[in-house]
Amino acid sequence: MKQIKLTVKTKTQKYPIIIGHNLHKNLGNIIKKNSIKFKKCFLIVDKKVPGKFIFNIKKSLKQKEVYMYSFHASEKNKNFNNINKILEIILSKNFSREDCIISIGGGITGDTSSLIANLYKRGLKLINLPTTLLAQVDSSIGGKTGVNSKYGKNLIGSFYQPNLVVADTIFLKTLPKREIICGYGEIFKHSLIDSKSFFNFLNKNYKKIFNLSSPYIEKAIYESCKIKRSVVEKDEKEKGLRKILNFGHTFAHAYEASQKYSKKLNHGEAVVLGIKTALNFSLENSLLKKNEYKLIVNHINNAELPSSLNEFLKIKDLKKILSFMVRDKKNNSSKISLVLLRKIGSPVFNREYTKNKIKVFLKNYLAN
Ligand code: GLY
Repeated sequence: MKQIKLTVKTKTQKYPIIIGHNLHKNLGNIIKKNSIKFKKCFLIVDKKVPGKFIFNIKKSLKQKEVYMYSFHASEKNKNFNNINKILEIILSKNFSREDCIISIGGGITGDTSSLIANLYKRGLKLINLPTTLLAQVDSSIGGKTGVNSKYGKNLIGSFYQPNLVVADTIFLKTLPKREIICGYGEIFKHSLIDSKSFFNFLNKNYKKIFNLSSPYIEKAIYESCKIKRSVVEKDEKEKGLRKILNFGHTFAHAYEASQKYSKKLNHGEAVVLGIKTALNFSLENSLLKKNEYKLIVNHINNAELPSSLNEFLKIKDLKKILSFMVRDKKNNSSKISLVLLRKIGSPVFNREYTKNKIKVFLKNYLAN
């Protein structure tokens, strides 16, 4: 079983990301090999993860005292009430700080489990087993935890790094194409903010990645993790540089929130729409050159990624979208802070714009 290992070193934690096929069957050994010691573990499992995987995971953890919570993962359930409910269950089992939470699911399960791990007795061990492409290339690494509030997405949260991340590509085979496209949106984002050669690789091989062909899918995951690692290691707490990982997300979070996290527009789709919006804004504000813009947009179209904002949102949504953008975490003033693109591999952050400027732009953009 070939494994790829990357180590993330931040000020608060040093931990491995292991990428490979069918790793979950060996989880117990991977934990042991990486010297993560605990007696009890609490699995927080997305209900959508097929039971055969959970059976294998429990079997591989037979030396441990294992408890499990089945989480109905959705943006609506990613809230503080559920955090409290799960914390109470773990408290009732008297877990200590030396014990471990194992998150098994996509980004919603991961963000929720990580916040629980951070809050429980001020922190216990955390292992992420991301089961979606989006979680494997983005949310399972870097230590962001969070839940939603009626005021917006991920507005309650912290930074809490895991002790181990295991990205098992076997889970991806159970996902619908829509879910793969969502994860691809974050892979694509990483290429745009960091690497023209990775962008060229994606441009050439996106079909093989969508089909989960080896070694293309592994390379896409590995390169994404490498890009994210290098940013997180430099700026764990998002004081500056890490903001570039939010390229497209200020628009995306507002789009999702304005639709009340409806299943009609999921996070990954909103991210691609947000990226396209940020590209148009960059072009209109003379940051991005027309030929570079065309190259990127051709890729979006060829790969059939979500592209037309007005297929998902209407002018009547504009007021709500702007009110969510104003509350974005990256803003330090009444203005809206955006991450934009100068060229592939060259993002710009901390650009501030008035609500009115963005309103005029979005109104036009939605009308076309
Ligand atoms: N997904 C953006 C970040 O982790 O900073």
